[in-house]
Amino acid sequence: MRLIVQKDYETMSTWAAYYVARAIIKAEPKQNSPFVLGLPTGSTPLGMYRILTDLYNQGVISFRHVVTFNMDEYVGIPSDHPQSYRRFMQDNFFSSIDIPKENINFLDGNAPDPDEECRRYEQAIDSYEGIDLFLGGIGTDGHLAFNEPGSSLTSRTRVKTLAEETRVSNSRFFDHDISKVPQYALTVGVGTIMDAREVLILAYGHSKARALKHVIEEGVNHMWTVSALQQHRRATILCDEDATDELTVGTVKYFKQMEAPNLDPDKLLDSVRR
Ligand code: GLP
Repeated sequence: MRLIVQKDYETMSTWAAYYVARAIIKAEPKQNSPFVLGLPTGSTPLGMYRILTDLYNQGVISFRHVVTFNMDEYVGIPSDHPQSYRRFMQDNFFSSIDIPKENINFLDGNAPDPDEECRRYEQAIDSYEGIDLFLGGIGTDGHLAFNEPGSSLTSRTRVKTLAEETRVSNSRFFDHDISKVPQYALTVGVGTIMDAREVLILAYGHSKARALKHVIEEGVNHMWTVSALQQHRRATILCDEDATDELTVGTVKYFKQMEAPNLDPDKLLDSVRR
């Protein structure tokens, strides 16, 4: 697993956006061989989505041949609710780029048969021969998508009960009223994400420091589900300095030395601009 430390939110978001743009451009996607992206919601990826939109507006990148699968969705809130993940993606990304509507995939949190909906989603991912790059965030309790502590590390897409810590944390998007936060969500499994050819996780701010310590410095553990990525062949955690607050100085130094030649933002930029 790689750890990339950037100095603040803006540089972290720029790094992520250019990395994603470069991966898409390098793949030279076409209609019959699209680039398949797994996508997260949350506050952390907002900067990345903004910068990817800028790159689109500058003509650097197109999403015409990109297919997306969002990683999770709340159960039981209308799809146009301001906090539904479908609406979030529309407002913060999809409405500003050239991705065709039919290339966008979501879990339907109002499906009459949620288990069937989860099976459908796995089949849809399979129909594209899997995900090229799965982007994700991390919960304060180390969760990946909505794979809460104790989730099976081989889990597939399914219904999950949200942990109290997650509902308290996400209540900031629901008028700080935990009773408004849904109790259930549909989420891709840890196994679904582990099957992606590459995974990039974004962690921002001191509130993620405790989780990063467990995920990076301790063993694979179902109580910190992002730690499963220690066993992925191409997994990267990208974070800002504050998110490293609980790591040892030695760990941070080690990863900074390892990544030093790759950290020049101009180089990332060069490789994207054609
Ligand atoms: C939710 C999402 C996760 C996301 C997490 C962190 O729980 N299901 O996918 O990683 O929030 O969100 P934020 O980036 O706002 O801290």
